[in-house]
Amino acid sequence: MKVLFAASEAVPFIKTGGLADVIGSLPKELAKQGIDVRVIVPKYEDIPARFTQQMETVAEFQLQMGWRNLYCGIQKLEHEGIIYYFVDNESYFRRRGCYGYGDDAERFAFYCRAVLDAMQHIDFVPDIIHCHDWQAGMIPVLYRAHFSYQPYYAGIKTVMTVHNLKYQGLFGQEKFKDFFALGDEHFHGFALEMHGGASFLKGGLLYCDYITTVSPTYAEEIQTPYYGEHMDGLLRSQSHRLTGILNGIDYEEFDPMSDPYVEIKYRDSLVKKQQNKLKLQERLGLPVNKDVPLIALVTRLVDQKGLSLIDRVIKELLSLDAQWVILGTGEYRFEQLFKWAESQYPDKLSANILFDEELARQIYAASDLFLMPSLFEPCGIGQLIAMRYRSVPIVRETGGLQDTVQAYNEETGEGTGFSFTNYNAHDLLYTVERAVELYKNPESWSNLLANLKKKDFSWRKSAQQYASLYSKLVQ
Ligand code: GLC
Repeated sequence: MKVLFAASEAVPFIKTGGLADVIGSLPKELAKQGIDVRVIVPKYEDIPARFTQQMETVAEFQLQMGWRNLYCGIQKLEHEGIIYYFVDNESYFRRRGCYGYGDDAERFAFYCRAVLDAMQHIDFVPDIIHCHDWQAGMIPVLYRAHFSYQPYYAGIKTVMTVHNLKYQGLFGQEKFKDFFALGDEHFHGFALEMHGGASFLKGGLLYCDYITTVSPTYAEEIQTPYYGEHMDGLLRSQSHRLTGILNGIDYEEFDPMSDPYVEIKYRDSLVKKQQNKLKLQERLGLPVNKDVPLIALVTRLVDQKGLSLIDRVIKELLSLDAQWVILGTGEYRFEQLFKWAESQYPDKLSANILFDEELARQIYAASDLFLMPSLFEPCGIGQLIAMRYRSVPIVRETGGLQDTVQAYNEETGEGTGFSFTNYNAHDLLYTVERAVELYKNPESWSNLLANLKKKDFSWRKSAQQYASLYSKLVQ
C-alpha cells in the first residue's frame, strides 16, 4: 500500500497548529503497519536551514496553471524513516509564515496542481492521496477533472480529512475557473459553489472517495447547524462515507520520562512532578509552593479555544486558591486580557505571550490542571499531552475533548478529568472550582492520576483504523 499525504504543514519543518503535529507523527505509525507513506508540503521560507540544506532536488518541471507556465521544483528529504517532498516555487512560498496572503487561493491552487504533476516526475504513484484541510482540498477535484483518465494516474483513491471545518478556502469563482481550468458544470450548489463563491474544502469533500475527521464526536457535530459552518447539510448528505478517527500523539516524543526539556524526569511519581512545579514557579516568579494547584493554558489565543468564557469570569477564577500559567499567542484582545490579569494578580498568574516549545513542555510537566474550555474542538492535542504528563484536563464536552476526557465521578472513583456541557462562563467557573476542591483531597487526587495512567492516546489504534480504511478503498 502506497499513500501520499498532502498537507500544508508538518512538524518538525513548519507548524502553525495541531495539523502539523498530526502530519509529523501519523505517517511514522502507518509505516510501522507496512504502509509506504510519504508526505508532500510546500517549501516555505521558515523551514529551518538545518533541513533545507539537506534537501535534494529530485524533479524540476514546468507546471501549467490555467494560462500560466510556472516553474515547479520538488525536493526530497528523509526524516525519521519517512520521505518528505517539498514543493518549491519561490514566488509563492518564499515568504514568512504559511497563510494569510492576498494570493493564498493562487498559492494553494499551485500546490494542489503540483502534488498531482509531481507524481509523474518522482516515480511515486500512490494508491491513496490523503488530503488534509482546505489547502489540499482541490486535489480530488483536479484529479477527477484532469487526471483520472490518464493511464499513469488511473485508479488512485482520494481521502479528505477535516481538521477544522471553520477554514474552508473560500474565494471568488473566477479564480477557480482561471487556476484550475474548470467548466461551469463544477460551479453549482452540489459542487464547488459556496455563498456565491467557491470553496477548496467543499470541492475536497464532494469529489473525494472518503471523508474523515479527527474525532467521532466532531464527525457527528459537523452534521448539525451549530457546528456545521454552513456545510452541515452537505455533510449529512455524505454521512455514509464520513467517519471520525481520533488523533493520537507520538508517545516517544511526548514522554516526561525522556523529554529533554523536563528537568526532573518522571512518569508516575507525584513527588517528582511537584519538583517540576517548584522549578517552574521559581522560573516564572510565582510564589513557590507545592500545595497550591497550578492550572495551565497552552494554546493559540483564539476564540475557538473558549477564551471568551475565561474573560467573563476572570476575577472569580483568580480569586480561587490556585495559580495560573498561560502560554500562547493570538488575538490581541486575549493577549491583552492575560497581560492585564498578570499585572493585577502577579502572585496568581504568569502570562507568557509567546510560542516556546521548551516552556510548553515544562508547563505540561509542572501543572496539576490543564484548561481547555473550547467552543468547538475537532480533536485537540493539548489535553492528550497533558494527560500523558499527568496534568488533569478540564474541558468542555465537545468534539475530541468529549471523546478523550471522562468526567471524574467521586462515587465510583472513575474518570480522568473535569468537564461541563454548555458554553457558559459560570459552568466553567463551577467546574474549575470543583477541580481545585478535589485537588485538596490527596486520596481522590492520586486515584484520579492513577486513572490517567491506564489511558493510551498513542497513534497505534487510530493508525490501524486509517490502514483498514485505505484497504477498503483500494479493493
Ligand atoms: C486543528 C483542530 C484541533 C485538532 C488539530 C489536528 O488544529 O482545531 O482540534 O486537534 O487540527 O487534527
